[in-house]
Amino acid sequence: MDTMTMLLFGATGDLAARKIFPALFRMYLDRKLPQPFWVVATGRRAWSQSRFRAHIEESLRDFCQDRAGDFSRLPVFLQGIEYYEMDVRQPQAYLNLHHYVRSGESERRIGENRLFYLSVSPELFAGIAGNLHRSGLSQTSGWRRLMVEKPFGSDLASARDLNRKLGEAFAEEEIYRIDHYLGKPMVQSLGSLESANPIIHAIWNSRYIANVQITASETIGVEERAAYYDHAGAIRDMVQNHLLQLAMLTAMHVPGRMTAEEIQAAKRNVMEAVRPLDKEDVRLHVVRGQYSEGSIDGTHAFAYREEAGVAPMSMTDTFVAARLFIDLPRWQGVPFYLRTGKRMKEKSTRIVVQCKPSEEAELPNLMVIHVSPDQGMTLRLNLNGPGKPGQLEPVELKYANQENLPEPYELLLAEAMKGDRTHFAQWEEVELAWRWVEPILAAFAENRVPLHDYPAGTNGPDAAYRLLEEDGFTWWLDPQDEPVYTPVHAR
Ligand code: BG6
Repeated sequence: MDTMTMLLFGATGDLAARKIFPALFRMYLDRKLPQPFWVVATGRRAWSQSRFRAHIEESLRDFCQDRAGDFSRLPVFLQGIEYYEMDVRQPQAYLNLHHYVRSGESERRIGENRLFYLSVSPELFAGIAGNLHRSGLSQTSGWRRLMVEKPFGSDLASARDLNRKLGEAFAEEEIYRIDHYLGKPMVQSLGSLESANPIIHAIWNSRYIANVQITASETIGVEERAAYYDHAGAIRDMVQNHLLQLAMLTAMHVPGRMTAEEIQAAKRNVMEAVRPLDKEDVRLHVVRGQYSEGSIDGTHAFAYREEAGVAPMSMTDTFVAARLFIDLPRWQGVPFYLRTGKRMKEKSTRIVVQCKPSEEAELPNLMVIHVSPDQGMTLRLNLNGPGKPGQLEPVELKYANQENLPEPYELLLAEAMKGDRTHFAQWEEVELAWRWVEPILAAFAENRVPLHDYPAGTNGPDAAYRLLEEDGFTWWLDPQDEPVYTPVHAR
């Protein structure tokens, strides 16, 4: 791997503490970092080097518990990280930073390869990129890459504006837009599921598949993020990015060569074919909800509107379910259902592919891809129970990954360091996703879609079940709604 400098903006923030430094530490332990490695960690706080390193050490002790046995290697790891205090709004600060980086590079014999990571508030993204450019920091004799956290815009216009501004400083091939769902190991396996298995490839179409259900439910509420979330809602926070990415990956025609460009083209092909919604029709296909008071695992949970920082009459969606159609011959008439919510009964991200029923059995075959927290797959088939001729019973083939798999941030950082953009969101996908979401944003803003209450700790509003009932389906695998299987007699 090339030697490089990683310039992290927002180094004293929450994401850096919870995700980025733990990922770097694990990579260091697993020898996945370039040598020598140097992280210039910038932040606004007037912290000394030792104060900052103590802060990282504390976060690693909190978020890397499983590697506690390796903490003796912490001091050497920390030597590779230097805190640099700066105000990212000051152009002059970048000139000084440039000077600092250049002398550090030559002192450490590091090539002029620079990975800029923006883990700051989104309104700072464009300004930082512009300053990197103008100060010369991003004009390197080696490569330069820009990793950008989400959210990428808050609607189509702002996303375009941001992209245009980033584009003044970085080429599209140099921009790595993070969608951490793309770093989840089971999501990274989705492509091979179809391409490496003719048995799956053969049924991956409307002839055999009745519907696809993509769920990302969480038990946590808005936590300390009300200032952002109360303006974003589940539609921007989860649907526009994570859920649509999962839909694209599930529905795409897996390319022969799995390069970033080919995968991007395959995903774009899907997103272009997602049937647009009309503002007037949104309420027919989209359910919006907000949690009210309830309890989760026996603990009282406040209503969304009672959470700190949330407007008392807030109409923000903490739950969204949507039905979409992909107008490609392969998916003609197959509804894709997306669903996400905060303060739900369980934490679960999964993709359920429901097959069309056979003449014989009443229960359909199901293929479940467990993305998190479980990671694996289940295939539900119908079989004559042994010794029970004529009686069909559902049986499950299960694959559960028990290994200690890398965290998304580890995978994504490693890929960006190598220059592999396969698991990053490309501009065209992001733009198309915003375009599809746009009428939903408008319909929500104009209150054209009812806001359903759901008590915290439930599976969301009933309206989300009705959405599927209209098509003769139901959400599979919801905790309290496990279907009770009674053997059926073969007809
Ligand atoms: C983030 C959202 O992108 O994803 C959060 O901003 C959400 O609101 C999180 O909690 C969910 O991620 P995961 O990996 O826990 O499913």
